[in-house]
Amino acid sequence: MRTSTAKVLAQGRVRLTPLHLDNIYTHFHWNNDPELNHLDSEIPYAEEAFGDFKRRFEEMVYHPSPDGRDFEIYAEDGTLIGVAYLTRISPHNQHCTVGVTIGDRRYWGKGYGREALDAVLGYCFNELGMHRVSAETFEYNVAWRRLVEGMGFREEGVERDYLYRDGRYWDKVIYAILDTEYRAHRAEAA
Ligand SMILES: CC(C)(COP(=O)(O)OP(=O)(O)OC[C@H]1O[C@@H](n2cnc3c(N)ncnc32)[C@H](O)[C@@H]1OP(=O)(O)O)[C@@H](O)C(=O)NCCC(=O)NCCS
Repeated sequence: MRTSTAKVLAQGRVRLTPLHLDNIYTHFHWNNDPELNHLDSEIPYAEEAFGDFKRRFEEMVYHPSPDGRDFEIYAEDGTLIGVAYLTRISPHNQHCTVGVTIGDRRYWGKGYGREALDAVLGYCFNELGMHRVSAETFEYNVAWRRLVEGMGFREEGVERDYLYRDGRYWDKVIYAILDTEYRAHRAEAA
């Protein structure tokens, strides 16, 4: 388990824990889901063999990179519904990048993504002392764009024609929120 660097976070109905090796089959299923790949990965979809995934997942669980954190997301009924992660953590510059994937479609569009991102942002700003948190997606990922915009992220720009998919190019959209903006947004929402 990634107990050394990730902890348990709770926010509303969701609970975020370190990755558990026991859940490898659920993670493997999401890893080989073409629709999730389309929405959250720039690597073209290719089915990965279980043995290869297992080696990668064990590495994430037992030897996590110091510049990242991975969490499992649980709903209030105890179901493992997705993953959340921080990457490119720079303690010196106090910035990182975040992402959330609700892998279980039955839980889409019900506010779980928002609560998970809220938990992750609280962790970034209140516990890791980040100054800036960024998020990226492709122009067609409307749900993620609405989610981060609703949480107070600002669109900072696009990397034009970044992704080649379905026979055409798509922009990558970059968002970020600063600690002052995060606190102002939370105060406004309270
Ligand atoms: C993107 C994702 C995390 C959103 O989580 P969710 O629990 O489904 O979304 P929520 O219910 O919290 O809603 C968040 C916002 O997205 C909007 N939204 C959710 N699903 C949507 C959809 N299919 N189309 C358009 N908007 C959508 C909601 O209306 C809400 O915006 P609003 O407050 O302006 O109304 C989730 O759909 C997901 O995991 N998708 C696949 C992976 C992915 O795209 N990850 C993000 C890239 S790292």
